Amino acid sequence: MGPQNPQPSHSHAQPEPPKLPIPGVKRLIAIGSGKGGVGKTTVSVNLAISLQKLGRKVGLLDADVYGPNIPLMMGVQATPVGNGANIRPIVNHGVTLMSMGFLNPGDKPLVWRGPMLHSVMQQFLRNVEWGELDYLLIDLPPGTGDVALSLMQTAPLSGAVVVTTPSEVSLEDARKAVNMFRQVRVPILGIVENMSYLIAPNSGERIDVFGQGGGKRTAAAMEVPYLGELALDPEVRIGGDSGRPVSLREESDAHAAPFRALAKALEARCAEAEAQAAGPKITVED
Ligand SMILES: Nc1ncnc2c1ncn2[C@@H]1O[C@H](COP(=O)(O)OP(=O)(O)O)[C@@H](O)[C@H]1O
Ligand SMILES: [Mg+2]
Repeated sequence: MGPQNPQPSHSHAQPEPPKLPIPGVKRLIAIGSGKGGVGKTTVSVNLAISLQKLGRKVGLLDADVYGPNIPLMMGVQATPVGNGANIRPIVNHGVTLMSMGFLNPGDKPLVWRGPMLHSVMQQFLRNVEWGELDYLLIDLPPGTGDVALSLMQTAPLSGAVVVTTPSEVSLEDARKAVNMFRQVRVPILGIVENMSYLIAPNSGERIDVFGQGGGKRTAAAMEVPYLGELALDPEVRIGGDSGRPVSLREESDAHAAPFRALAKALEARCAEAEAQAAGPKITVED
């Protein structure tokens, strides 16, 4: 094919659907992973509460329609009420919440498929009365399937956080998640390494249960920011299972502190990404 017949560029071949803003929501952040069980919901819940403790207004949308754990981890089970065409969210621990688990409680599996899930996610984004929020976090389902993809393509995301453990199987899937976000042009705010190590209760020895440094190495190799590591901490698991996440505690608490630090790192990254998107600035030093 000669220059008279140029190939249409990729961006022309696939026009992107419009990503309408969500009124009142300043930063919309997806939290994803390649694998399930790496602590995505745990990180989402603790980040949401930590940001709230730092004085931000925070919402948390549970997009894991097949395994909606947010109600359990946030310690609330309630049925949202309608308000005309809209849905009133549930609020607990100072965070505004919506989850399939509120609509389909108990152990019943959800048997919906693609198009219905797409429409329920759109309703969760657009018909829930989120109000004024500094952050709306979205706990994505594991993997790079339909729900995650259609959300990524329609939600006006500020960026995404990828959660992984240091194990090679988890990292392999985390790389896929990073590539998925890249393909749909969602900025990667950073990688979080969860379950990085365990402190032995008696000796205080550090045990690298799932390997060491994999999250940081992967972030460097993929040229995405590294947001930090979180220990494998039995108190974190108990906090989630009991609906009282460790982040409800004071910042000085050893179990809560790492999540506060993560929340601050995320805020800093958001500011940086926004400054980059706004273009170069000339600064004058005196
Ligand atoms: N840092 C951690 N320390 C201890 N337990 C954790 C930690 N992160 C997650 N868990 C536990 O691991 C299990 C899976 O975590 P979850 O957040 O549900 O993962 P995902 O949402 O990625 O499937 C839960 O029981 C949770 O309490
Ligand atoms: Mg989960």
